[in-house]
Amino acid sequence: VQAEKGGYDSFMLKEIYEQPQAVRDTMGPRIDQAQKRIVLPELKMSDAELATYDRIYIVACGTSMHAGLVGKDVIEKWTRVPVEVAVASEFRYRDPIYTDKTLMIVISQSGETADTLAALREAKKSNVKVMAITNVVGSSVAREADEVLFTWAGPEVAVASTKAYTSQVVTLYLFALYLAEVKGTLPADEVANVVEHLQAIPGKIASMLEESEAARVREFAESIREVSSVFFIGRSLDYAVSLEGSLKLKEISYIHSEAYPAGELKHGTLALIEENVPVVALATQPDIFEKMVSNIVEVKARGGHILGFATEGDKDLAKAVDEVIYMPSTLPMLTPILTVIPLQLLAYYASVARGLDVDKPRNLAKSVTVE
Ligand code: G6P
Repeated sequence: VQAEKGGYDSFMLKEIYEQPQAVRDTMGPRIDQAQKRIVLPELKMSDAELATYDRIYIVACGTSMHAGLVGKDVIEKWTRVPVEVAVASEFRYRDPIYTDKTLMIVISQSGETADTLAALREAKKSNVKVMAITNVVGSSVAREADEVLFTWAGPEVAVASTKAYTSQVVTLYLFALYLAEVKGTLPADEVANVVEHLQAIPGKIASMLEESEAARVREFAESIREVSSVFFIGRSLDYAVSLEGSLKLKEISYIHSEAYPAGELKHGTLALIEENVPVVALATQPDIFEKMVSNIVEVKARGGHILGFATEGDKDLAKAVDEVIYMPSTLPMLTPILTVIPLQLLAYYASVARGLDVDKPRNLAKSVTVE
């Protein structure tokens, strides 16, 4: 087993460090280098059929569902198709509103999660076209879906998902761009611009994993070793990533954590902020940056100890928070794939600092194949 960990002390850390490669492998075959556009040769349906879909359900569990939340924002932004994201265990017992123009996307790393598979089967019974995003060739989800987009992340062993998430997110970007081209909702030069930024992402992930960056996250993780709660706040895409950061932390460090849309804080959670309560504040979205800063100031006024996330060169956040992690700059829509990296490291180091089994958290399984 030691050898399989490739010199790392856990599968999770190894998988965190495999992300530049996982993302590159997932994108590579789907980018037309010359034309800077997306190709999805694996799709069986025609572009004409794809263009007809005017409503999308994304159904998944856990971390895969969090990837879906990022997918919703990018699909809606680039294609103007309304997307609803649902937890599979809820969705399977609902009476969803399908039309013949509804597309369902199920996301599952393992392709074996019982609730996700059940939701897929329910949809197929209603003759809804189902597209799967999965990491496992030959899995039940891959076999039963009408269409499959594989994430090429390689086997993921640690219970806490890392490289599968970033690979799912990148697959959703590719799909959203492809759908935008098919529907004619994004001009070719804008597609090309996003593609260029996407191609730079693996290198940026690698820079965030460098020793000096990781050491700063480690310090913060050690400072929260004994706390009873951590809060994550953000708006729009930052909120989607906050949910994933919070899940990661609670599942492997057993520290209670909650993610909140920053603007909702004053409707309840602010009551829990007192002297030295750790708050991780993501502020990478330029259009709502000012709003985020005022939320952060409110938290600071109650004594919160704040770790802020900002984009490189954005010096304004530093004044409002206790510590800052800077992200390499990219398009605002692409930040989730970068911000999640230090959040994964935060969870990892917090777990290590508490002396826990990083790869096998209590009560949890890698793949939940029973309901
Ligand atoms: C379990 C795992 C999570 C995963 C979720 C969904 O809870 O511990 O890491 O996100 O299942 O799994 P799937 O294989 O469907 O993505």
